[in-house]
Amino acid sequence: MKQKTLLACGFLIFFMGGCSKSEPPDPSIISDSFIVIGHRGASAYAPEHTIASYQLARDLGADYIEIDLQMTKDNVLVAMHDQSVDRTTNGIGSVESHTLAEIKRLDAGSWFNKKFPLYADTNYKFLSVPTLEEIFYYFGKEANYYIETKSPDKYPQMEEKLIRLLRKYDLIEEHKVIIQSFSEKSLKQIHAAEPKIPLIQLLSYQRPAKLTKSEIKKWKQYAVGIGPNYQMIDEAYIKMARRAGLHVHPYTVNSKQELDQLKKWGITGVFTDLTGSLSENWKK
Ligand code: G3P
Ligand code: CA
Repeated sequence: MKQKTLLACGFLIFFMGGCSKSEPPDPSIISDSFIVIGHRGASAYAPEHTIASYQLARDLGADYIEIDLQMTKDNVLVAMHDQSVDRTTNGIGSVESHTLAEIKRLDAGSWFNKKFPLYADTNYKFLSVPTLEEIFYYFGKEANYYIETKSPDKYPQMEEKLIRLLRKYDLIEEHKVIIQSFSEKSLKQIHAAEPKIPLIQLLSYQRPAKLTKSEIKKWKQYAVGIGPNYQMIDEAYIKMARRAGLHVHPYTVNSKQELDQLKKWGITGVFTDLTGSLSENWKK
């Protein structure tokens, strides 16, 4: 009985911030200057979610590298957008049906050379799928990380494993990370465990978006901003969110004209596959 109580308390301390109710986050945890987020690295020019792609995004001036998370059969966090390995490796099947050793044998670069011959590079052949820990080990505190918890219902351990790694590499206190998710539940879990991590609520509108005061109030309980699809928002939407003190980081903008308009309307950051190429001075 005693042991069970201790276990339950350990779980609560990890996820519930010591059993107390978390305070709403402070949006000023993220700087007010405009941020460029290298979407899946520099994914227009290098195979997405490889160390080469993240490195290129940094070389091209991205402020953050964006990382999507999946989890292997043996519960290791790896960087991959899709739930299946089919599109971005030479393997087949779901990530969760492969052990890390199996995932590591896959070639995560050659598909890119075939699909995008203009940017093909022999160095991309046989690149491997990185684990989240390998990414932290490689870039350390030199990089800023903008991490998405994907399919959290499929991977109930994802948030705990992510937070443990962020603590291990001391990335929370050093303000090196933003976490994003379409899952409100996932973000709330993270906020309860580590209220200092700035969180972005991703939004997948299927038609032109309208904000309501009640949504804004709800998001502000745990998030510092929102990440909507840029094609579904307009000036009124952005201005309302900004007046409420929320950051607005739309995805995924790959046109200079559209970026200029969104910036005029007040967005505070952007996801792009084209880091560095929309113009020399596009952060201004
Ligand atoms: O994370 C922002 C954007 O990446 C969400 O869409 O499908 O590219 O992860 P997706
Ligand atoms: Ca993403």
